[in-house]
Amino acid sequence: MGFTEGSLAEAKLIGDDVFPKTFLPAAVSERNLAKSVLAERESLVAALRRHRALLFRGFDVISVDDFERVVEAFEWDAFQVISGTTTRSKLSERIYTANEASVDLFINFHHEMSLRPTVPSKIFFCCSEPSPEGGETSIVASDVIVEKMEERLPEFMAKVADVGIIHGNKTATNAEVGTQAIFNKSWMSYLGTDDEAEAVKRAKENFSCSTVHFFSDGSAELIFGPSNPVVEREGKRAWIIPILGYTDNINMASNKFGDGSAFPLEVLGIYEQLLEENCVDIKWQKGDILLLDNFAVQHARRPGKPPRRVLACMCK
Ligand SMILES: [Fe+2]
Repeated sequence: MGFTEGSLAEAKLIGDDVFPKTFLPAAVSERNLAKSVLAERESLVAALRRHRALLFRGFDVISVDDFERVVEAFEWDAFQVISGTTTRSKLSERIYTANEASVDLFINFHHEMSLRPTVPSKIFFCCSEPSPEGGETSIVASDVIVEKMEERLPEFMAKVADVGIIHGNKTATNAEVGTQAIFNKSWMSYLGTDDEAEAVKRAKENFSCSTVHFFSDGSAELIFGPSNPVVEREGKRAWIIPILGYTDNINMASNKFGDGSAFPLEVLGIYEQLLEENCVDIKWQKGDILLLDNFAVQHARRPGKPPRRVLACMCK
């Protein structure tokens, strides 16, 4: 047995299931995580389904190669990463930097690439260098958020199930292109054209947008939906539309009901409060690997300090 169960001070209980479930090496001689994963793959996959998130701590995961070997031991196919509106660097066949936006910026809760036509089912994070202060990756069970939204806002939830949400996300302005802002790519580079009509066509085909609005500051707003923010995958419901946007600037995102009527502003406050009440901030240690069921768990990045460095890998 390569693992022993750890207890994480910040973990929460969802029913009887600890979130996240933490695994430590069973012995000093068993710190080769890839080897232990190969030996116990099936039980780990079952644990991920039940607990939604798994944290592996105390193993010898030093290099990008070590991380890649762990990922490969799970035997899931690689998710083809298509360039988006943020910057990541490719470090190896399957490993990327998580996000190169300035580490002092908050990245709000989201399922990875949840509005794309194809969504990664799992995401791994590996802490290469923890932040000296802050910089936690925060995770929340999306099914819990759906359930609590239904309790708090039954009429709103009935309406979104009926007519859906039209959601907009802003891309970088000319002034933000190439900076360390969370969105630092122009729509021209994101969509590979400077022709607006062609950009709309590509946004629809490749990114499931319903349309794109263009602004004089060089930014664009990618419009999604109308669609239901709640989807059910593999038996768990998830809230997949990031209604608060990906940053702490609420003006970067827009929402209205699918019938065109205005979105009640208090919904955003309640949604944000539920995220904060139910999330777990993972205080990274060097070499930690966090595995998330991306259909079940939303993640966020708390503001930190350099040299925080977290790597990521997505699977089909
Ligand atoms: Fe993310």
